[in-house]
Amino acid sequence: MLSNSLRDRDIASQLHPQTNLALHERVGPVIIAEGNGAEIRDANGKVYIEGMSGLWCTALGLSEKRLVEAATRQMSTLPYYQNFAHRSTEPGILLAEKLLELAPVPMSKVLFQSSGSEANDTAVKLAWYHFAAQGRPEKRKIIGRMRGYHGTSIASASITGLPHLHRDFHLPLPNFLHVTCPHFYREGRPGETEEQFSTRLADELDALILAEGPETVAAFFAEPAMGTGGAVMPPKGYFEKIQKVLKKHEVLLVADEVITGFGRTGNWWGSQTFGLQPDMITCAKALTAAYMPLSAILLSEPIYASMVAQSEKIGVFGHGYTYGAHPVACAVANEALRIYEEDGVIAGVAAKGTLMEAVLAPLRDHPLVGELRGAGLMWGVEIVADKVTRAPYDAARAVPAKVQDAAFAEGLVCRALGSAIAIAPPLIVSPDQIAAIGKRFATALDRVADDLGIM
Ligand SMILES: Cc1ncc(COP(=O)(O)O)c(C=O)c1O
Repeated sequence: MLSNSLRDRDIASQLHPQTNLALHERVGPVIIAEGNGAEIRDANGKVYIEGMSGLWCTALGLSEKRLVEAATRQMSTLPYYQNFAHRSTEPGILLAEKLLELAPVPMSKVLFQSSGSEANDTAVKLAWYHFAAQGRPEKRKIIGRMRGYHGTSIASASITGLPHLHRDFHLPLPNFLHVTCPHFYREGRPGETEEQFSTRLADELDALILAEGPETVAAFFAEPAMGTGGAVMPPKGYFEKIQKVLKKHEVLLVADEVITGFGRTGNWWGSQTFGLQPDMITCAKALTAAYMPLSAILLSEPIYASMVAQSEKIGVFGHGYTYGAHPVACAVANEALRIYEEDGVIAGVAAKGTLMEAVLAPLRDHPLVGELRGAGLMWGVEIVADKVTRAPYDAARAVPAKVQDAAFAEGLVCRALGSAIAIAPPLIVSPDQIAAIGKRFATALDRVADDLGIM
């Protein structure tokens, strides 16, 4: 008999990504019914601060009427058109122009898709196409970083450096390589300074490219600050040193700004916060504040020139998605960018980030906290079993997940990622809500510490 409860119907009908599916059959979903600014309400009426902006994406919260109106206007004028074969729509043109104006380094063109995974997949293809146009088709290996996250489609998952996203999927594909995660707290050696750590990682990259043969390496993908890997900020000097190596070997830098684009770290782009001069930028999420699915690649003039040459040779740029520059998604993105600019949303992130740090800083003394790190409104709290040795808890004990669940019970959404907890509220979060995040998170840590018998 089919149960009427939404919970049971969910279990019976819907497959949930990034979920322990056996556990889901037992516990079912939390059903979210409504959004209001930086808060959500579940189907039982309980209200939470959405301290993760959904999946790092609802930068303007969940009740921004201007975005709804922008979508409605476009829906009633032209709900869909495509941009293959010389067709275009005004929202797509305006958005491409605006992104080129906002770009952190000079960029030539914008190519639209619907998701971050598609953007990174496409960036891989463009890197291949670019070197093929130069008569160097063998220059095609792609380097990512351990704990980097770039999506779950076949190429983007291959760039991703999280083994649980590879296992039993026959991933990564051949020719996708990974270097050390730039997390000084976890990967730094005893006595090593942050700068020395960065130098070692740049040397490692140099050695890998030399061992593979620079003529075989096309691109290096990096999130300016790592999200899913645990909100990891780059160590001092890292990107400066890495970029020297990439330049020397003519390896393209792709900045994956899917999380860091549009204000998350306090500037429009993570590339500005952390000093990247990418050849391509992929972005999504806050591009539309997540009200519609949309991603974009910004690409440099030399890459565009290669694409023109290739498409002339072949007769077509043989790539594209049905929903590529979806006019409703582009109209929403145009409105989101206007709000970020006109309402000073992005200009306000730095001060909110300072407040967030002040609120979270006392937790550095908590027995469960090894490191507090972050920029703007992107924060990571490293959970440790031993503050001195930095040893994490055995993964099977799922201590970070317990903290996440305890915070949820307190009315705060945060996210366990490996041995860390991420906190990344909407950019419109209020000072009072930031204070509440700090209180609720501290209570959650105390509860878990209590349960573990360490307080
Ligand atoms: C840095 C980064 N790149 C790419 C992606 C993939 O985006 P999507 O889930 O839209 O495919 C994500 C998603 O979280 C991400 O954080």
